[in-house]
Amino acid sequence: MKHLLSIEELDELDMSRILTLAPKIKRKRGISPALKGQSWGLIFTKSSTRTRVSFQVGIRELGGESLFLSNNEIQLGRGESIADTARVLSRFMHGVIIRTFAQDDLREFAKWGTIPVVNALTDEEHPCQILADLFTISEKRGAVPGKKIAFIGDGACNVCRSWLFAAAKLGFELSVGAPSGYQPDDETVARVRKAAGRKAKFKLTITEDCKEAANNADVLYTDVWVSMGKEGESAQRMKELAGYQINRGLLQAAKKNALVMHCLPAYRGKEITEDVFEAHAKDIFDQAENRLHVQKAILTLLSKQGRKGS
Ligand code: CP
Ligand code: NVA
Repeated sequence: MKHLLSIEELDELDMSRILTLAPKIKRKRGISPALKGQSWGLIFTKSSTRTRVSFQVGIRELGGESLFLSNNEIQLGRGESIADTARVLSRFMHGVIIRTFAQDDLREFAKWGTIPVVNALTDEEHPCQILADLFTISEKRGAVPGKKIAFIGDGACNVCRSWLFAAAKLGFELSVGAPSGYQPDDETVARVRKAAGRKAKFKLTITEDCKEAANNADVLYTDVWVSMGKEGESAQRMKELAGYQINRGLLQAAKKNALVMHCLPAYRGKEITEDVFEAHAKDIFDQAENRLHVQKAILTLLSKQGRKGS
């Protein structure tokens, strides 16, 4: 594995390697030498609690050093090109983890740099989140293929988009309950269906009826209604997404022991009610913790790539 740019581009074998290694890393939590002597940079243009901290702690636990490079504090924020930044950082570092807006900026960095690039969230995808979520589901409910995952809320967001490609790669049922205007676009859906090929357990439903989406689901999943960068649409989103909430009523439609998941941060009373969130808090925070273990698995596999020189 050279980079982790998206779930769409992730090789199925690499996905399975990550999901096999993560539980082993979790069982043997502690310092290991996979990144010994390595320096990894985190270039973040958007806010982060979980991704930033879990990557920095994970790099340290793997014996490496991390440098947090806020976009505003490096010359990138003053107009230095991505191509030049990538070529410079490739002379110093062993890998970079980037959180930004445009997916193409990640591709540009990967094109010009000679070190692994990890997507820590873009407007298009959040692959590390979904890999941790897949690990969480398998840990708590067994094999993901054969399960029904219902995504409720902003079905056009980065997290849902990564879910779509995960369903295609692994072969499971994904049902998106989202209002029109917040559903995955046709081009993405076509790409997902093509990627799924003939996988027997793959099924994709997109509906405005969240009860239908949640019906008999093994997992109810949600994300914020207002993703980073969409703050200007806040009022409109609150209105249009108002019915697309995980609450007690919706839980009735799902399987009795359905897992409730949230990538966090959570806004109670918006995408999820306080009571449902708190009733499922243990699982939700286990899900958050798994970011660390999965990302350590990703870094371990990428570190084998290391520096190739300029
Ligand atoms: N879920 C997630 O990526 O959280 P942060 O934005 O806090 O990193
Ligand atoms: N869809 C959200 C995910 C936050 C982790 C966002 O992009 O803000």
